[in-house]
Amino acid sequence: MNKILIAPSILSADFSKLGEEVRAVERSGADWIHVDVMDGHFVPNITMGPLVVKSIRPVTKLPIDVHLMIKEPERYIESFAKAGADIITFHIESEGEPKEIIRLIKYFKKHVGVSIKPNTDIKLIAPILKMVDMVLVMTVEPGFGGQGFIADCLPKIEEVRKIFSKDIEVDGGINESFAKDVIAKGANVIVAGTSIFGTKDYKDAIKNLRGGN
Ligand code: DX5
Ligand code: ZN
Repeated sequence: MNKILIAPSILSADFSKLGEEVRAVERSGADWIHVDVMDGHFVPNITMGPLVVKSIRPVTKLPIDVHLMIKEPERYIESFAKAGADIITFHIESEGEPKEIIRLIKYFKKHVGVSIKPNTDIKLIAPILKMVDMVLVMTVEPGFGGQGFIADCLPKIEEVRKIFSKDIEVDGGINESFAKDVIAKGANVIVAGTSIFGTKDYKDAIKNLRGGN
């Protein structure tokens, strides 16, 4: 079994004290720091860029997990790699040649993730699974934190687990109860924004997402 990892999404953090928020989740037992990058094209929202990754890099020892929800990932991989990302995930629905995007991420010696939106068939990623370190299964439509978990995505996690033995990350609307469901289907990296940063006790929230341990 792959180790269960908790990746708080800083999208739901208090940006007026971002450094402190990152330190707080690290102290509270987080495994990765999840950074949601949105460009106003691939998704309607605009969030953060390489500058934010660069500014949190010295604040934490944890791997920085960059989730690119952008139209042309290839154009920005170098900037995110140099800013200090450890894992770079692109969407299969974005523009560009997936094999080229993967090659570039590997060129910078970063781990590669590929993500699929709730309505995307896993057939689309099947040909490149051998080349990636992680599959990110979205359980909301990408674009905003705080949305409701789409339970219809659960069978997809199970399908991916049948053909992929490395990390399966799940992202969107995950609380303690849905964390149990996605882990039961074979996911092992849990992204959570609201259900961590929206609470008072990050340590307790992270422990509960992990299944109480
Ligand atoms: C959605 C983002 C998620 C989101 C998670 O597009 O990729 O990472 O911020 O936040 P919650 O847990 O609040 O759904
Ligand atoms: Zn995300």
